[in-house]
Amino acid sequence: MRMYDILLKKRRGFELTNDEIDFFIQGYTRGEIPDYQASAFCMAVCYSGMTENEITALTMSMANSGDMVDLTRFGNLTVDKHSTGGVGDKTSLIICPIVASLGGRVAKMSGRGLGHTGGTVDKLEAIPGYRTSMSMDEFMDQVETVGLALIGQTGNLAPADKKLYALRDVTATVDCMPLITSSIMSKKIAAGSKNIVLDVKTGSGAFMKTLDDSVELANNMVRIGKACGRNVTAVITDMDTPLGYNIGNSLEVIEAVKVLNGCQKDDLYEVSVALAAEMTSLFMNISANEAKALVEDSIESGKAISKMVEWVKAQGGDPSFIIDPDKFRTCTYKYDVIANEDGYIGAMNAEEIGKAACILGAGRITKDDKIDPEAGIILAKKKGDHFGKGDLLATLYTDKKDTLSSASEIFLGALTLSSAEPEMTPLIAKIIR
Ligand code: URA
Repeated sequence: MRMYDILLKKRRGFELTNDEIDFFIQGYTRGEIPDYQASAFCMAVCYSGMTENEITALTMSMANSGDMVDLTRFGNLTVDKHSTGGVGDKTSLIICPIVASLGGRVAKMSGRGLGHTGGTVDKLEAIPGYRTSMSMDEFMDQVETVGLALIGQTGNLAPADKKLYALRDVTATVDCMPLITSSIMSKKIAAGSKNIVLDVKTGSGAFMKTLDDSVELANNMVRIGKACGRNVTAVITDMDTPLGYNIGNSLEVIEAVKVLNGCQKDDLYEVSVALAAEMTSLFMNISANEAKALVEDSIESGKAISKMVEWVKAQGGDPSFIIDPDKFRTCTYKYDVIANEDGYIGAMNAEEIGKAACILGAGRITKDDKIDPEAGIILAKKKGDHFGKGDLLATLYTDKKDTLSSASEIFLGALTLSSAEPEMTPLIAKIIR
């Protein structure tokens, strides 16, 4: 087999066989196929597309390019969740303990944040002592005893995707549906869970800006996940507005604890309950409505917050920060953004708000930047809220005083003020099972 012939076949629009796709992926991972041929492959896929068989083969081949986590000892109870990334999206911190408190087995590997969206691993590292890496044996033992372990992605999980994603990033081939689908699903398949819920964000702060694109991606991922032998549900959720009120690592842990204590029932609560219900419905094989009642009871009864305390403790974190989130340090500088007129928040550009939080120190602009766990933004008003002149719109937190003026300027630029109450978009646009 020759890579040249595979490229020519794809360029001419013919369907590749499983063996041809595997030849490319395994050869590229081993370094036997050069970047220039892999770039040509990605570009040919952008123009010619891929059939469902091809995407399934690509997904399985990338999943098989490194370690495959074996969770079979937990039977059908394993459940994972993936979010396509959003601003203020701390749902994993809420959902994972809920699902574990109901008997699910969550063996989760998460990423770090880059750009305007935060990563779950960065948020957990804001808890003093929390360890985001451990041996595979320790990881499995904790899933067995606590029902939940959450660590950073190990280096050898779908290495083909890691290499290919870096290449796509510099060859203008990220934005291509078959490549996105196989990239996300290969990592989820390699991570081993039988049941997978995908939170596909849509709107200004999301990777997919339009509902049509989000629906297409969600449909593709569900189909391919099922073809790879997993139970998959996708929930398409709004990311036109940041989720919840807090953006920034320790600030998001604090807010997640509030939701788990049943003290905050807003958009964050609603999305978290919907996702946890879909996960529970899959691993318990019950209806989504029955699962929702169990999820709500886990919060109301205190089972969910107890599970979070148990989980954080098991992973080396100081549980007193979950019991009493006031223990988290606050930043040296605090700046209130005040309204200088009356009106409604007509729209919020979530991506720009994420950028403002990033400048304050909550995120990374390049991979090697160090983040400040306490920096970020607490919103006081969100889309649809009315405000008067002199009202607080948000508070910015940072240890770098010189970031305050540009961050507040970006924050204000992200708000569209309106004299009339805006029409609200549904928080959960669609569920694809
Ligand atoms: N996220 C991924 O993991 N892969 C993509 O291709 C796009 C977003």
